[in-house]
Amino acid sequence: MSEKKVIFSGVKPTGEPTLGNYLGAIKNWVALQDEYECYYCIVDLHAITVPQEPKDLRRRSLEVLAQYIASGIEPEKNTLFFQSHVSAHAELAWVLDCISYMGQLGRMTQYKEKSQKGEENLNAGLFTYPVLMAADILLYQADLVPVGDDQKQHLELARDLAIRFNNRYSETFKVPDIYVSKFGSRIMGLQNPLSKMSKSGDDENDYILLIEDNDTTVRKIKRAVTDSIGLVKYSDEQPGIKNLITIYSKLSGESIEEIESKYEGQGYGKFKTDLSEVVVEGLKPVREKFADLMKNKDYLEKIYTEGAKQAEYVANKTLRKVYKKVGFIPR
Ligand code: AMP
Ligand code: TRP
Repeated sequence: MSEKKVIFSGVKPTGEPTLGNYLGAIKNWVALQDEYECYYCIVDLHAITVPQEPKDLRRRSLEVLAQYIASGIEPEKNTLFFQSHVSAHAELAWVLDCISYMGQLGRMTQYKEKSQKGEENLNAGLFTYPVLMAADILLYQADLVPVGDDQKQHLELARDLAIRFNNRYSETFKVPDIYVSKFGSRIMGLQNPLSKMSKSGDDENDYILLIEDNDTTVRKIKRAVTDSIGLVKYSDEQPGIKNLITIYSKLSGESIEEIESKYEGQGYGKFKTDLSEVVVEGLKPVREKFADLMKNKDYLEKIYTEGAKQAEYVANKTLRKVYKKVGFIPR
């Protein structure tokens, strides 16, 4: 058994992954893969909390896997798999449902927002979604969960549930820590820089997809909302520009100060032109590799089949322990 600490994380195949997913999550995973034992999942069970066209869900799930690999997550070093291939996720979620409080779940921001908006499809899955997420993490005894800033509350719940279960039945789960990068863990929309860039938004100019053609990316950056102040400055009064500087910095590796001084006395036009280049160049290897991978479905199948086998082995071990502790008769 490896001595490395364990990481678990995932992306929902509900829409095409955005630059927000990439900079907030996937790019960090790449940096962590050598130091940790990593489980990177495509959380398809989570995706159906929102109605999905089955054939689109199938296609997108495979695309997300290819995007993980294209982003630099090496299948030889990590366990890559589909959540629905490991039934222990749904099984542990049930056990955890039974120690979850309605009140706490009702306070989860994502659920609250949807219910307040009067979402038509307010199904029970949406309500218990964070419990399934806790099950994902706890099954692998994860030490660390690298996610974007929007997942903090869900991580708190996972920790609470681990502690509650451990207290009630004896030490069973590792209590996971969240890993959020200090900077750029919340990429904002290009049209509405006050809310996060999201693949579920209606306005396609609001987000950059990890996979889209370069011209589209350039056009979206050109249209990104700025302000009338006219200074390339990282300031809360300029949320649009602040977000663009963040993207620039995350992809180029240049610091905020370097970027600010580079564009001192220049307008937004030049800054946006250069940013387009930074984004297009930064995503180029990912986009190229993705196109190659999608031509090789057999290879992808091999990866996810092997991934499910490895994941299942670890997950079932935890689940057996849990079932025994709650009092189920061992089979
Ligand atoms: P999701 O697309 O909701 O499955 O999110 C997958 C991962 O991407 C999670 O770790 C999120 O926190 C992260 N993420 C999603 N949107 C953003 C964003 N706009 N900025 C930073 N991270 C994000
Ligand atoms: N809820 C996460 C999101 O919306 C996706 C997710 C599901 C996840 N299970 C997870 C992330 C486990 C990290 C670990 O982004």
